[in-house]
Formats: sequence, structure tokens, C-alpha cells
Amino acid sequence: MRTQCVIIGSGPAGLLLGQLLNRAGVDTIVLERKSLDYVLGRIRAGVLEQGAVALIEGAGAGARMRAHGLTHDGVEIAFAGARHRIDFKSLTGKTVMVYGQTEVTRDLADARAQCCAPSVYEAEVVGILDIATAHPRVRYVKDGTSHEIECDIVAGCDGFHGVSRQSIPDGMLTSYERLYPFGWLGLLVDQPPVAHELVYVNHARGFALCSQRSPTRARYYLQCRLEEHVEAWSDARFWDELRARICPDLARTLKTGPAIEKSIAPLRSFVAEPMRCGRLFLAGDAAHIVPPTGAKGLNLAASDVAYLSQALIDFFRTGRQDALDGYSARALRRVWKAERFSWWMTQLLHRFPDASAFEQKMQEAELSYLFQSRAAQTMLAENYVGLPY
Ligand code: APR
Ligand code: PHB
Repeated sequence: MRTQCVIIGSGPAGLLLGQLLNRAGVDTIVLERKSLDYVLGRIRAGVLEQGAVALIEGAGAGARMRAHGLTHDGVEIAFAGARHRIDFKSLTGKTVMVYGQTEVTRDLADARAQCCAPSVYEAEVVGILDIATAHPRVRYVKDGTSHEIECDIVAGCDGFHGVSRQSIPDGMLTSYERLYPFGWLGLLVDQPPVAHELVYVNHARGFALCSQRSPTRARYYLQCRLEEHVEAWSDARFWDELRARICPDLARTLKTGPAIEKSIAPLRSFVAEPMRCGRLFLAGDAAHIVPPTGAKGLNLAASDVAYLSQALIDFFRTGRQDALDGYSARALRRVWKAERFSWWMTQLLHRFPDASAFEQKMQEAELSYLFQSRAAQTMLAENYVGLPY
């Protein structure tokens, strides 16, 4: 088998890249180790920057997002019993769209199926060979049988635990990492969200987030200990803890119900540089992870894919490699800014178990400064709505 670009992974990064290439006439094959149902069952964040929205539209997968996505002009930050609004629209002229990442993945998978572009599910890539040559090969196993595809380019869009980054020879990548001493316990419920916009809460008992998926479906998170088990959190315990952390007016109007999904995720910042080795290019979580506090995971995957798709289209049209050569540095410039923002939001809003009394005072001073300074709010807003591509 042969194709121009093998894409490993059918998360948002792989599927978006596949669509953008497909529409430019570049042949792709997507290989995904899980089933489509499994991929579409994963619950992830749900805030899209305008740049990501535009790309999804450009990929021909924007119809449902346009119909059901919720435009938000700002977010709230709650601290010491008071809610403070950050007005994105007035500070930056921009807004964000609340639309579940799972839905984005579904729309992209549907668009791909509609143009009959090949995807192989339950196909685990086990080897990426000859990436130092112009004819790399990708080996995968499906139903116990091994297959190989020859191609010009391999796009590693296979997430943090994927095979792509691990296939790069020792010593060629430098990794930077920070692990945070807590996780997020998330709960999805079919009830109207407690507030019109997202509410990020810094409380002595720990961080909380009130988010949403639609006017009838809400998503909530609680900062929890890393060793916590989800089974220890009955729905009732979750709701009691959430009520204890959010402001009293919100606690009174919170609508609870049985959880549709409940899970715990650790928080991590991670970047591997460069995002390329020979003919293998990394995009999305394969190259970097952000803690979810700034909702940047999918948005960063989208900007990588914007740069990579432009470079690949140029390469396949002209045979010239300069755009491909510039991909990693260009993507990383934006990646590091989003890493900084996500790290900053995480520091600002969580209670760190080992924080000294001085560090706690610094956090309070920073929040107080943010609430009174238009300049500080503009910094938050500009990053939250997304830096330019
Ligand atoms: N072979 C084939 N597929 C693989 C392999 C492999 N060896 N290893 C991993 N995969 C698949 C995973 O099963 C997963 O479906 O790669 C996909 C990677 O998808 P994501 O983890 O969603 O990564 P990415 O597309 O970069 O995500 C960008 O969206 O889903 C979120 O949390 C994610 O915020 C991030 C953003
Ligand atoms: C979510 O809705 O899941 C969500 C929203 C904002 C975040 C993180 C997650 O910062």
C-alpha cells in the first residue's frame, strides 16, 4: 500500500489535518488503534478559539458546530465569595465558542467518511521506519495481521502516549515537563448549567470549574488529590463538595442529577522539541500537553495542524521543503505561549498542597490585581480567546 501522508491517530489533530489535506488534493490514510465508538466516547474539554472554529469550518465540518455551538463573550472568576467577570468582547473584540471536543471529533470523522477518505480503526501502529529517507514506512497491526504503508510523510497525531514521539531516536528530542500535585475530577450531567458563562473558582477547599456543553448539559470539575479514586466519589459527595466551593448564590441554584460520566485526570505541562524528525512530523498532544485550566489542548492541536497542513500542501504542490523546515519552530513559538498561559491559570486558581504562607499571599495579590486592572484582564482575555496564528 502507498499514500502521500500517513496520519497516525484519529483524535482532533489527526482528523483535522486529514480533512485539510484531503480538500487540497493530498492523499492520506488515517490509522487509529481504538474503535471509532471508543474515540467518540471520550469526554474532553469544550472551548474553541475563533482560529480553531475557522479551521473546522475550512475543513468542511462546521455545520453542527454553527448550529449548536454557544458563543461566549467572557468568563467569570470566583474568589472569596465574589464573582468577577472577564469581558473578552470588550477587552479584545473576540469571543470563544463552547462546543464539546467530542462533537468536533464526530463532525470531522463524519466529514472524512463523506469524502470516502480511508481510515483504518483498530489498527495499532507498531513501527515508523526509514524516517530519515524520502520514503518512510508505517507498520501497523490489525486483527492480528501486520501491514505496511509506504508514504512521503508521516504525521504523528497520536497523542501523548502514542508511538510517534517514542519512535524518534534517543538524543534527538529535548523534553520539558511539569507535573502538578493534584488532578481534576470531572462530572457530566444532563441539567442546565449553573451560570450563563464558565465560572473558574479559587476556593480554600480547592479549585472548581462550572462549564457546559449545551443549554441542557453541564460539565463540572473539582480539584482533587492525585491518589483519589473515582469510585470514592458518589454523585452526592461530588455535588456537596461543589456546593461548598462555589459562591452561595450559585450553590443555591445549582441543578444536580445523576452523572452521565465521571473521571479523574492528572494535570501536566509537557513539550518535546523539535516537533519533527526527518519525514516524521508531530502535532497536538503527541508533542505537547497543557493542564486543562486554560482550555488550550484542542486549540493548540488546531494551530499545529494549521501550520503543518499549509507546509505539507506547499510541499506536495511544489516539491519545496522550506515551509516544512520551518514548521517546528513556527509551531513551538505558539505552543510555548499557550504553555505559559495554561501554567499561569493553573498557578492562579488552584490550591497547592505545599504552598507556603507567602506563596498563598502572592496568589491572593495576583487575583486582586487581576480584578482591578484592565491591563491584567486584557492579558488573560487575549490568551484565552487565542493568540494569532
Ligand atoms: N496507533 C494508532 N493510533 C494511535 C496509536 C498507535 N500506536 N497511539 C495512539 N493512537 C491514537 C489514540 O487512540 C487517539 O485516538 O491517537 C489518537 C490521539 O488523539 P488525542 O489523544 O485526542 O490527541 P490529539 O488529536 O493531539 O488531541 C488534541 O484534543 O482530544 C484532545 O486531549 C486532546 O486536547 C487534546 C486535543
Ligand atoms: C470543559 O468544558 O470541559 C472545560 C472548559 C474549560 C476548561 C477546561 C475544561 O478550561
